[in-house]
Amino acid sequence: MLICDNLTKRYGNQERNAVDGLSLEVRWGEIFGFLGPNGAGKSTTIKMITGLLACDSGSVTLEGQSLSKDPVAYKRMIGYVPDDPVFYERMTGFEHLSFIADLYQIDKNTREERIGELSKLLLLEEALNSQISSYSHGMKQKLSIISALLPSPRLLILDEPMVGLDPKAAYILKTLLIDFAKKGNTVFFSTHVLEVAQELCTSLGIITQGKLLYNGTFKDLQSENNKTDETLEALFLELTDHDGKEL
Ligand SMILES: Nc1ncnc2c1ncn2[C@@H]1O[C@H](COP(=O)(O)OP(=O)(O)O)[C@@H](O)[C@H]1O
Ligand SMILES: [Mg+2]
Repeated sequence: MLICDNLTKRYGNQERNAVDGLSLEVRWGEIFGFLGPNGAGKSTTIKMITGLLACDSGSVTLEGQSLSKDPVAYKRMIGYVPDDPVFYERMTGFEHLSFIADLYQIDKNTREERIGELSKLLLLEEALNSQISSYSHGMKQKLSIISALLPSPRLLILDEPMVGLDPKAAYILKTLLIDFAKKGNTVFFSTHVLEVAQELCTSLGIITQGKLLYNGTFKDLQSENNKTDETLEALFLELTDHDGKEL
């Protein structure tokens, strides 16, 4: 289980906290969708969960491993797909993946098998020997997803992964996330694509101005608002309508 307890972050030049006392729990096997308007604090939260950004206060643990106390053991369990992946563009896709496999000390047979399997699944096999500089945004996104999955993480964290994917790639990714969670792993992803969140997520978090407005299932969100026929989009727009005003 992933436990975020009272996570708080303020950037030096800002008047309010970008993330403000955020607590949530995500169990194994869940697909957790993290929703919120632009600037709500999604990426900041995700960076704190991945350990890329230190929190001002609060803590993160995964399966009892504390990010602050044992960062290596914690990070071994997670894979991260950032919103704007950065690569050494002069490497080929294959060289990049080999580099990741070296970092994680993945043995030769396992890496060959997993690179083959994942690149086939994401339809990137034929491009693996081309330089990353020749890749489209969608291809880079796919490479980033393969990189995150290569070390067999138990928690996959993705920041707006649907951006730039064509319909087929988006479909493949959705299927991949469902299969990944079915094996007892956890997916934590942020998205603006509310239809995807409604369809895929077993649990949702809605954040505005750094604070968690809602945490639970889509069904409970509907019933708590006495609107069992409403789409997630309609409920989201109603809930976040106060954005910019004091809540
Ligand atoms: N590196 C940064 N320096 C200063 N302020 C930042 C930085 N990154 C994000 N912010 C601010 O923190 C708030 C939350 O941003 P972010 O976490 O990126 O939101 P989201 O991912 O939900 O769009 C915003 O007000 C944003 O302007
Ligand atoms: Mg963001």
